[in-house]
Amino acid sequence: MALLEITDLHARYRIAPILQGVSITVEAGEIVSIFGRNGAGKTTLLKTAMGWLAPTAGTIALEGRSIAGVSPDRIFRRGIAFIPEDRRIFARLSVLENLELGLFAELGLARAERRRRMARVFDLFPRLAERRNQAGRTLSGGEQQMLAIGRALVGAPKLLLVDEPSEGLAPKVVAEIFAALAGLRAENIALLLVEQNVQRAAAISERCYVMEKGCIVAQGKLDILKHEAVRRALSV
Ligand SMILES: Nc1ncnc2c1ncn2[C@@H]1O[C@H](COP(=O)(O)OP(=O)(O)OP(=O)(O)O)[C@@H](O)[C@H]1O
Ligand SMILES: [Mg+2]
Repeated sequence: MALLEITDLHARYRIAPILQGVSITVEAGEIVSIFGRNGAGKTTLLKTAMGWLAPTAGTIALEGRSIAGVSPDRIFRRGIAFIPEDRRIFARLSVLENLELGLFAELGLARAERRRRMARVFDLFPRLAERRNQAGRTLSGGEQQMLAIGRALVGAPKLLLVDEPSEGLAPKVVAEIFAALAGLRAENIALLLVEQNVQRAAAISERCYVMEKGCIVAQGKLDILKHEAVRRALSV
């Protein structure tokens, strides 16, 4: 059984149909990328998987149980975390306070386990440890992305949905963030990654899908990126 199995998913904003029969799977611990041009529906797919948008048809199953139409906080408790493109860092809260928000679903968690999860994030991104008492607004874009990833990780998800993590960041920081994401595989955390930086994402992914106008038009191992039609769909 796949960790995430989406079958023939349809979703729309008001009357505008966006997803038009999307089927994808993500196995436990696997890194899967979704590529596609602007407006293809990639973000809409992530939002629908997280419950931000209710599907109009199709199924979404996490470990074989339906999560279609379930609220985002319940989906989070079931093991999916979403890191949206705008990162949603709380500007006035400190790094530590932002991270603690990632534990909102586990208020009864033992103190030692809370500490262990925080320490894990600080190991992954030592810069966050240095800045633990700084306000979110004082962080650079790269540090904010690290914090957004860290806040998702403290909730111990099985699957991370990440929308354009490299957006607006310098290449050196992007390399750091992708190395951290690739390392999550060792902890059996799966990743569904939407990224414009095809080369970068391809380098850490096991499989990929190409979306065009709300449909999956190609899928497979990374060698499909060599196909002319796929290159055209991505303008690469
Ligand atoms: N809140 C919304 N209300 C109405 N239409 C929307 C909304 N959000 C997105 N759309 C439209 O839905 C389509 C798909 O958008 P989506 O954001 O999913 O694309 P995307 O593949 O993530 O694109 P990008 O690469 O630019 O992030 C676009 O035509 C977009 O204009
Ligand atoms: Mg998008």
